[in-house]
Amino acid sequence: MTTPVNPTETSAWKELSAISSGFAPDLRGWFAQDEQRTSDLTFDAADLRVDMSKNLVTKEVMASLVKLADEVNLRERMDAMFAGERINVTENRSVLHTALRLPKDASLVVDGQDVVADVHEVLENVYAFARKVRSGEWVGVTGKPIETVVNIGIGGSDLGPVMAYEALKPYAKEGLSARYISNIDPTDAGEKTKDLDPETTLVIVASKTFTTLETLTNARVVREWLLSGLEESGALEGKTREEAVRKHFIAVSTALDKVEAFGIDPKNAFGFWDWVGGRYSVDSAVGTSLAIVLGPEVFEDFLAGFHAMDEHFRTTPWEENVPALMGLLNVWYTNFLGAHTHAVLPYSQFLHRFPAYLQQLTMESNGKRVTWEGEAVSYQTGEVFWGEPGTNGQHAFYQLIHQGTRLIPADFIAFANPAWPLKDGEADMHELFLGNFFAQTKALAFGKTEAEVRAEGTAEAVVPARIFEGNKPSTSIMAPALTPSVLGQLIALYEHITFTQGIVWGIDSFDQWGVELGKVLAIELTPAVAGDREVLEKQDQSTQSLISYYLEHREK
Ligand code: F6P
Repeated sequence: MTTPVNPTETSAWKELSAISSGFAPDLRGWFAQDEQRTSDLTFDAADLRVDMSKNLVTKEVMASLVKLADEVNLRERMDAMFAGERINVTENRSVLHTALRLPKDASLVVDGQDVVADVHEVLENVYAFARKVRSGEWVGVTGKPIETVVNIGIGGSDLGPVMAYEALKPYAKEGLSARYISNIDPTDAGEKTKDLDPETTLVIVASKTFTTLETLTNARVVREWLLSGLEESGALEGKTREEAVRKHFIAVSTALDKVEAFGIDPKNAFGFWDWVGGRYSVDSAVGTSLAIVLGPEVFEDFLAGFHAMDEHFRTTPWEENVPALMGLLNVWYTNFLGAHTHAVLPYSQFLHRFPAYLQQLTMESNGKRVTWEGEAVSYQTGEVFWGEPGTNGQHAFYQLIHQGTRLIPADFIAFANPAWPLKDGEADMHELFLGNFFAQTKALAFGKTEAEVRAEGTAEAVVPARIFEGNKPSTSIMAPALTPSVLGQLIALYEHITFTQGIVWGIDSFDQWGVELGKVLAIELTPAVAGDREVLEKQDQSTQSLISYYLEHREK
């Protein structure tokens, strides 16, 4: 991987700096003066229609952003990623999540190995297993078919699958459902298993490393719950605990040796590779819960959606390249207009976990303070991603977006067709819902002037509070419906947005060293929490005081 370009030394960065000083956005004026604005700033990417016209940009800004992409060698870096070069420099790994969705007849040889053949071999095994569970051929240790799939994982081994399961619930097979356990808070495993029947439960232990404390602890706890449940009801009579584990536990991991040591039959362990980052893995065997509950055909459509967006990103000039442009817009807001956060507002209840999913994707990827060569950066990186589905957000935090003092670029996502077509009398609920979607971006962009407020005859003292400044930026993303393919497209869109930003910032978007220190300290500290005075006394005064409070109040 070549040396990162310092973006602040490019001529595009200098142009953007100059434009941004004294920049006075005027969406009302810009729309009035330019009838082509929306058509010039609306793009199609696979099935997505993306309207960027309500962003705080002029043609000049867009041209400089595109120039920035060239000056930081975005194309060269993108080609390197797709070709399997080791662009994850700090871990010396290729970054090949895009290979997970290449069609079967494609080929990509990396280090002498055709990774596409490997990917499809695993996919076929996952699909074959999924078909057995779905048909009832795969039964638990007492001969009953599976009704609930419990995925135990955390981070990328949880957020992607649970988000996609929630998003695609209408595709779930009747009589089959999934649950997701992630937190080491015992509440999570306790609540998610309390009404389950061990005889009809299949557990997937999903962990790339098979060492993650939360996942292995939860896996052991759920294994014990399942075995003691079977024993207490007498269902295990004549069978061994080992047989039960082999019928009720499968795994997804890159560490197949560790899987076997847990008691899982290696035949039922689905692998992936170190070139798939956890947060980029929902389209690998990490999606096994989806393949089982939603079905292999749905999973194939999901992968095809990712691939369609990959192709758009790989082949479209920057001027019309949706992920690249959205990533560049985020750079504009972060580095030139002072935005710190970015809202993602899906007008789809089924996407209620999408913002949480994006938090790991974007923040674990781009929350970095050194370049991939270890130089401290002199500019901001990363954005705080957050959001909730509309219209719930409207009644909670939109006030701050509309009238607060902060600049919050927002992505609005909606679908032409509802997943649940319901009527309220004669009124189509989806129309009411989308009326809100269209109204919000309009209100944010164009606001309400003092004259418009006064024209309503509002009391003098209240006038300032009722003014909406406008010029609050948003991007609207629409698609015909939330299908498996469209969901894949949306995820790949944000993967490539994240990539674009990472390249501009010259950082390694594929490592996550920042989560390691806390993990190590948790292991070191836990004996003190269990009462070890010697370990307690070695801690700093605040940590000692907090643990002492815990020890005084914990009832055992
Ligand atoms: O600690 C962060 C992290 O490494 C994530 O990047 C990853 O998705 C998660 O932990 C889970 O890791 P694993 O799949 O190895 O259990």
